[in-house]
Amino acid sequence: RTVSIIGAPQQFGQPRGGVENAPKLLRQAGLAETVANLDWRVNDEGDVDMQTTQDVAGPLRHAAQIGHGSRKLMEACVKAHARGNFVLTLGGDHSVALGTVSAALKARPSTKVLWVDAHADCNSPSTSPSGNAHGMPLAFLLKLVQSSELGTASSAFAWLDDVRLAPQNLAFVGLRDVDAEERKILLRLRERGAFVSTMHDVDRRGIGHVVDTALDHLGDDGPLHCSFDVDSCDPLIAPATGTAVRGGLTYREAHFLCEALAATGRLGSLDVVEVNSALADPVGAKATVDLAAGLVASALGAVIL
Ligand code: ARG
Ligand code: MN
Ligand code: MN
Ligand code: MN
Repeated sequence: RTVSIIGAPQQFGQPRGGVENAPKLLRQAGLAETVANLDWRVNDEGDVDMQTTQDVAGPLRHAAQIGHGSRKLMEACVKAHARGNFVLTLGGDHSVALGTVSAALKARPSTKVLWVDAHADCNSPSTSPSGNAHGMPLAFLLKLVQSSELGTASSAFAWLDDVRLAPQNLAFVGLRDVDAEERKILLRLRERGAFVSTMHDVDRRGIGHVVDTALDHLGDDGPLHCSFDVDSCDPLIAPATGTAVRGGLTYREAHFLCEALAATGRLGSLDVVEVNSALADPVGAKATVDLAAGLVASALGAVIL
């Protein structure tokens, strides 16, 4: 099988510079070689150009850039899916999931999504405390955003109209920093069939139980997409990220999750997002990049014997 590596140097989904350098840094860390050594063919598709159009004002910051850039990313991912490849997307901030998850759903509508994150990323422009798109991708994918919330920018998101992620096809692992409005959204999503777990569940039950339950919940048919935000990991092991939150996954917990995904044989696509080397000292930046590259290797079967 072949892995398509797609760089998505998106930074407009949040305010901190540096996250756009992650695809380059992950490649420099030898990601392609690591993957090739795992008996995958590697097709590096290069970076999607995320530099587009001028801003329009509104409650979603950089709405036009996010809408148009995400569509370009979606198209690149759809092409890779159409060739039957594993689609590995290197963010960029977490708004890139607009493009990657919608592509997975367009290519294979039965796709299930595992969202690994300290945050729930299901704010609408109207509930977001920040206006940052990286806190909103799931609201778009779950159809929780009204076009009136987007104002003149709504046309930049029209390509998402036929994309819908059903709550029962979504599972969260790693949550520990949820906004007041998001908390209500999460409870509603759970009622509608989403699997919603927090770090409390990891503490109480252990990562093995949480991951098994999440995967059980997603059922045994259809491909899996994992959207992995490195801020799900504890800042002790992943300090170089824009919205770090203490009390995250340990090194082994994060690897275990990725290994368990590999062991399903159903993982079809993976995002690794929010690595921002500008936000830590050089040692912490390298540790974060190396962690992200290692997690990719685990998700592609490095330790499944
Ligand atoms: N919930 C906050 C917001 O909406 C933080 C989101 C952080 N998201 C992320 N992908 N790191 O702004
Ligand atoms: Mn800006
Ligand atoms: Mn996120
Ligand atoms: Mn996050």
